[in-house]
Amino acid sequence: MPNPAPPLPEAKAPDIALSEFFDGHPVATFAIDRAHVITHWNKACEHLLGWARSDMVGTSNQGLAFYARKRPMLSDLIVAGDADALERHRRSAVIPGAYEAEDFFPNIGAGGHWLHFTAAPLRDVDGVVVGAIESMRDVTERRVAENALRRAHDNLEHLVEKRTFELAEANALLEEDIRRRRAADAELRQRNLELTELNAKLSVTQQQLVQSDKLASIGQLAAGVAHEINNPIGYIFSNFGSLQSYLGQLFTMLDAYQKAEAGAAPEVAAELGAMREAIDLDFLRQDIPNLMRESKEGIVRVRHIVQDLKDFSRTDGNQEWVWANLHTGIDSTLNIVANEVRYKADVVKHYGAIPEIECLPSQINQVVMNLVVNAAHAMGEQRGAITVSTGGGADPSEVWIEVADNGSGIAPANLSRIFDPFFTTKLGFGGSGLGLNITYNIVTQLLGGQIRVESVLGKGTAFILDLPLVVPAADPAA
Ligand SMILES: Nc1ncnc2c1ncn2[C@@H]1O[C@H](COP(=O)(O)OP(=O)(O)OP(=O)(O)O)[C@@H](O)[C@H]1O
Ligand SMILES: [Mg+2]
Repeated sequence: MPNPAPPLPEAKAPDIALSEFFDGHPVATFAIDRAHVITHWNKACEHLLGWARSDMVGTSNQGLAFYARKRPMLSDLIVAGDADALERHRRSAVIPGAYEAEDFFPNIGAGGHWLHFTAAPLRDVDGVVVGAIESMRDVTERRVAENALRRAHDNLEHLVEKRTFELAEANALLEEDIRRRRAADAELRQRNLELTELNAKLSVTQQQLVQSDKLASIGQLAAGVAHEINNPIGYIFSNFGSLQSYLGQLFTMLDAYQKAEAGAAPEVAAELGAMREAIDLDFLRQDIPNLMRESKEGIVRVRHIVQDLKDFSRTDGNQEWVWANLHTGIDSTLNIVANEVRYKADVVKHYGAIPEIECLPSQINQVVMNLVVNAAHAMGEQRGAITVSTGGGADPSEVWIEVADNGSGIAPANLSRIFDPFFTTKLGFGGSGLGLNITYNIVTQLLGGQIRVESVLGKGTAFILDLPLVVPAADPAA
């Protein structure tokens, strides 16, 4: 026991009345003097701890009653003034200088007891500690209930923890499921998008095919008709030559007859004169050469048209890659579309010296036709001009063709859309909006070239094609 207080020469005994009150008090209480000797040990104390007052008073065995060995109690610490040890206990909230403690004592009672101690100093008139009083309450029931409550609480917490864990697991599974569903959903949407895109492409390709097919059939028909007309025109033309020379001979013969007429019998001469007048021979002699010349011109024109038709459709070449003179193709195309252009614009040609290029002539013709017809359509009330120019590129492996007009021009907002399939401003006027799209595909994909457009609204438009002399080898991946 640290720093025990020096024993008083004689401990002061509490008075009798206090002693009786003490003894009868229902709370187990004992008191010690400044020498740690028990001065009081009441009945409740005897009852709770099973130690008789006679065995305890006058001894310092208070520790034995609780711990089965000598050990300082809270009251001993107060008497000894052991501040360090006291600090480890709770100060009483109501009694100044008093301390409280609670502990389990397995040796007390059948199954042990929980006791709550309150120890307070006893002071003399000068305030000097002369002893201490310590009371104890049996709090076993409360502690048992508290323990049960704690266990129930622990159980509940464990259950909650378990449930929380299960819930978190279920949640994680659900989240994974949602994530998978979202991914599947996104993939489905992506597939759908691709499918829609593919569908749109398919529809465009189908329309382009229909259009190309239509153009090819028209080309074939034109080529067939041209071929059929070509033969009769051939022999009409050659017969015409013979006819002209025969007529010359006949007129010479007629001259000879007319001269011989003077020596004929008068009735024969009169009959011949009447006949000459009836058929107006002089007029015939004047008119027949005119008719022959005009007819020959007509036949020559038909021959040209037939030749242009054949050139334009090029079925003789049957879509084969050949080295061709662009100017021949452009000329025949201009003749073919002459009717479309004639009443709207004059066609001006500025051909440069360009080499032949490797191409599909019918496709070049198709391109020029689309551009020239568009230019003609762009003309307003006033007659305009369509200029077709060609030249060698700055790059010697290229040539260019330009189709320019002084028509309506293209609105800037439309400029980026004119090559899109089905874009047309000629709705209701028979425009399909595929002309420039097909042109673009032929130039860029088939011929390996480029197409540019320059346009000023209200002033005119120019389409410029840059074409390589030799078509680049096709990319097998394309
Ligand atoms: N030279 C031009 N001047 C003004 N606008 C033009 C010219 N060329 C094309 N365009 C515009 O571009 C649009 C698309 O042309 P595209 O040739 O593709 O179709 P389209 O001429 O309308 O129909 P089609 O399929 O019968 O050719 C035209 O409708 C027109 O508005
Ligand atoms: Mg067009």
